[in-house]
Order: sequence, then C-alpha cells, then structure tokens
Amino acid sequence: MKTGIESIGFYSPQYCFDLRKLAAERGVDGDKYIHGIGQSYMAVPPIDEDVVTMGANAAREAIEKVDASAIDAVIFATESGVDQSKSGAVYIHRLLNLPSTCKVVEMKQACAAGTMGVLSALGMIALNPKSKILLIASDIARYGLNTAGEPTSGAGAIAMVLSANPVIMELDYRHGTYAADVMDFWRPNYMDEALVDGKYSIRVYLKALTEAWKDYARSTDRTFDDHDRFCYHLPFTRMGIKAHSYLYKHCGDSVLDEASLPAQVDASLRYNRLTGNLYTGSAYVALLSLLESPDEQLAGKRVALFSYGSGCLGIFYSGVVQADYRQYLPANQHKTMLEQRSELGYEQYVSMYSTRLPIDGSEFMANKHRTGHYRLAGVCAHKRIYESTN
Ligand code: COA
Repeated sequence: MKTGIESIGFYSPQYCFDLRKLAAERGVDGDKYIHGIGQSYMAVPPIDEDVVTMGANAAREAIEKVDASAIDAVIFATESGVDQSKSGAVYIHRLLNLPSTCKVVEMKQACAAGTMGVLSALGMIALNPKSKILLIASDIARYGLNTAGEPTSGAGAIAMVLSANPVIMELDYRHGTYAADVMDFWRPNYMDEALVDGKYSIRVYLKALTEAWKDYARSTDRTFDDHDRFCYHLPFTRMGIKAHSYLYKHCGDSVLDEASLPAQVDASLRYNRLTGNLYTGSAYVALLSLLESPDEQLAGKRVALFSYGSGCLGIFYSGVVQADYRQYLPANQHKTMLEQRSELGYEQYVSMYSTRLPIDGSEFMANKHRTGHYRLAGVCAHKRIYESTN
C-alpha cells in the first residue's frame, strides 16, 4: 500500500518587509542578508493573525478537493502555540467544520514537530488505510528587534492531507534519526521571542544531519545518488545550501560533480526566501517550493527530506513524486498570494512587530488588518475569539 501526500495547502501573512530595508536600518551591507543568509523578505503577521488562523487558512486549502468527512485526525505542529493546554488543532477543527469523530492533538519538538506529525500520520494510515490525516505545521518565528536572528524571522503555515491515496508524493516511512539534549535554540514559557546561539545551532544541525543520514542509509541501503532532489529545514535558505554541500562531502561516494549540487536544492529555496523561517513548516514549504517550480519535471523522482528541530531532533527520510502531481498543486494561487502582499515601511514593521496581546488577562479587541479567511477577533474572559472573514 502506498501512503503519502494527497493534497497541500499553504498560507503566509499578507504583509512583508524587505530585508534590504532592514539592512539599511541596521547599518549592515544588504548583501549579507540577501546572499550571506539568503533571505529577501520576511512575512510579518498582524495582531489578528496567529498560528491558529494561519493554520486554518492552509488547512482550508488542503481539504478543498478531498473528502473532508474522511479526515479522522488533525495533527497540529507548532512551537508558537497559543495555549499550554488546549491544542491549536481543536480551534481549526471547528473553523473548518470537521467531523466530531476526528481526533485532535498538538505536537512539539521545535522545527521537527511537523515531521513527527507526518510519521505519526503514516503509522495511523498503515493501521487504518481508510484514514485521512490533516497535518498542519504553523509558526511565527520571532527573534527580537536588533538581534542576529532578526533577518531570519518569518511566519506561515503549511497543511497536508496524508492518506493511502498519495497523488502528489508517496512517502517512505523508513527514516533515520538523531536526538541529543542541547541548548542551541529555545523559548522559555515567560518569553515570546526565541533565544538562539546561531553559530552553535548550525554546528548541531550539521551533526544531526549526518547522524540521521547514517541511520537512514543503514535502514534503507540508499546512497546519496539514489536521491534526485533534497529539501532541508530552512531556518534561512543559505542553511540548505550549506547542509547539502556538507552531506555530499560526508557521503563521499557521489558520482556527481560538486557543481551539480545547486540544481538539487535551488528550486526548494524560492518560497522560504520570501517568507522567512516557518519553523515546523519550513522543510515542507521547501518541498512545496520544489514541487511548484515551473522549471522542474519531478514525476518519478526521489526527494530527500531533512527536518531539524533544535534542542535537538534530526529526521531524514524520503519520498517519490507521483506522475500527475502538478494537477493537484495550486501553484498559481501561491505565487499570487506571495506577490500580492503589502510591503511595510520600517516604522510599520516595528509597530506591527511590537503590538502584542495583553499578558495580564485583560480583554482585547484586535484592530482589523489584511488577513486570510480567518482572524483573531480578540480575547475575552481569557478565551481567544476566532472569526471567519467571509
Ligand atoms: N556579503 C555577502 N555575504 C556576507 C556579507 C556580505 N557583505 N557579510 C557577511 N556575509 C556572510 C558571512 O560570511 C556568513 O556566511 P558563512 O556562514 O557562509 O560564513 C553569513 O553571511 C552570515 O554571517 P554571520 O556573520 O555568520 O551572521 P550573524 O552573526 O549575523 O548570524 C545567523 C547569522 C544565521 C547565525 C543568525 O541570523 C541566527 O542566529 N539566525 C537564527 C538561526 C536559527 O534559528 N537557528 C535555529 C534553528 S535551526
């Protein structure tokens, strides 16, 4: 039985900020952000969008063309959750009118939670082939104004229906793993911005990549050259390029010339370069960017996926793109969504970034901004109030 991706939805906020403008404000050479880090824009969520509304928008698109009554679980992966107890999945379950027989849960292990959700879904489908699982990875990456991480900020959500009808991509459950207790990136409960030791995190990422690869190669007997394309977790897009070159050298058995490496990753970097980091969704936005690239013919090609969640967990696995995959992807919609964003000036960026929900439990009604189909109307009696915009 084949299992994998039946549909994909993607959402990123309607506001963005140009990293060349940020560089000018920070007194940094713009080429550092554009080329050294590999980011052109960051997506900026207004106060009335959060991981629930972004996730609901992505999920709405993912379930548009599938039989939603067959969805029997919503797995919500995030590291910017809105509640310590209630899962984001249950809000989205209501916003999308999913069946009451559907299970709901939230998963966390930094940016690797999306892949843990995928593997869990594949296991559930193996036990019940009629099952369709809605996996949503939604995050807001906030690093703080004037910090080294600031140019890698971003936001958005990706949703996939995983099932035994994987018309987009068959996923192989066999995977390689590396876990270790490290402090490279974390966010204590009392903070809404992440703490990160960026240089250390890059080193741990690369170690997790090679260790997870070894475990994967052992369980599948595959070599580097058995994979046509590679999608990496992208805290910033240069990380994908660094990771790919590092893995190639580590494997050391490829017949390919080093000059052919960019062609194996470049198409996967396009969307993340425009949105910034999406944490749990980042590797899957990279996959979508690859699949929707007009220059790629991917039918029958094996794509490797590497997820890295700081703290840390690395997971390496792969899948095969299906023959008619293009007809199931709303590529033009995504292109339009990214092209039609409103570009913020620096003052607007700082103001939008600095506007926060009250943390003392007082009531709050959010100003209306450009949003998707759902928005956070406010907080009343400690309850978040979500509403549809149409
Ligand atoms: N033109 C082109 N490239 C330039 C440049 C210029 N004018 N100036 C610097 N660069 C390059 C540097 O050489 C470096 O490239 P290299 O890594 O290949 O050597 C790159 O730009 C970044 O420069 P660096 O000095 O290392 O940047 P930094 O100290 O500002 O930190 C990050 C960069 C990515 C570490 C930082 O933004 C960060 O911590 N981001 C968060 C990452 C994260 O979330 N990690 C956890 C999850 S995986």
